[in-house]
Amino acid sequence: MVQRIILDMDPGIDDALAIILALRSPELQVEAITTVSGNVHVDQASKNALKIVESMPDLKKKPEVAKGVSKPLSRELTTAEAVHGKDGLGDSNLPEPKQPLSKKHAVDLMIEKVLSSKEGELTIVTTGPLSNLAFALLKEPRIAENVGQLIMMGGAFGVTKYGFGNVTPAAEFNIYSDPEAAMIVLKSGLHITAVGLDVTMDPSALITPREYEKMRSAKTKGAELVRRITRSHMASFGFLALHDPMAVAVAIDPSLVTRKKYFVEVETRGEYTRGQTIADRRGNLRPKTVRVGNPITLCTGVLGEKFIKLFMNRVILQT
Ligand code: RIB
Ligand code: CA
Repeated sequence: MVQRIILDMDPGIDDALAIILALRSPELQVEAITTVSGNVHVDQASKNALKIVESMPDLKKKPEVAKGVSKPLSRELTTAEAVHGKDGLGDSNLPEPKQPLSKKHAVDLMIEKVLSSKEGELTIVTTGPLSNLAFALLKEPRIAENVGQLIMMGGAFGVTKYGFGNVTPAAEFNIYSDPEAAMIVLKSGLHITAVGLDVTMDPSALITPREYEKMRSAKTKGAELVRRITRSHMASFGFLALHDPMAVAVAIDPSLVTRKKYFVEVETRGEYTRGQTIADRRGNLRPKTVRVGNPITLCTGVLGEKFIKLFMNRVILQT
């Protein structure tokens, strides 16, 4: 059965690849793309989402793109142009979009889509800071019962040896950007699967120069588009982590990852640990009194080769 999803993102290079993967996957029906400030300001992120959708002219149904919040709940905005380029898409200068943005705010569109769906039918996949979803939960708490599942790219939980921070030694960018929003989402009662750096930084799941060479030699429009978006990043960093495409891939094929439930807290006060996601790995040693809220499902391993194959087939070779 086709899974209806909302993509909430901050395009960003890997967000862009995640859009392409989602739109090229028959298992998914992208109901809407909502944008949030993160890698770049939400104005640019929204333009980038439209650019990517329009770079796929053969799409039968183009998803609505709605602009979301422009800054974290209570923090200054931290962007990541050094990683994603000034335009957020590797300074690829893709053509300006023609399709207009939705007239609805992302938070309202998210609420509308969730409440108009049958209970449990809709999946939300977030690949940026959780500011939009937190606002939606504050505005309409009922959505927590109606959403089927949240698959979020975010966090570094220490459940594998790759699970340490990227924006600081302790914190992953999406959570670091808006830790208060992350706390609201984690405590909302949503059924959450977190795709953290623990699995997205697994060496078996990275695009290395060898895979990149395969991309370069492929003569498809998809390969050309991905090359334009990723060229500068590969030149600067020598590899490409597919953080956001992995969150979409988990929606397509849950068997790509192993998983385990943990109680998780988000640090919102630490001087060195802002945005750290702390998984309680004490298991049964955890005192019963502190078992508040719901544990969330963390990805604890990934079939990297199978994931890369899915990505290459859907995003590079078939289009
Ligand atoms: O830490 C990686 C995440 O932060 C990815 O979603 C990337 O796009 C940035 O948003
Ligand atoms: Ca992102």
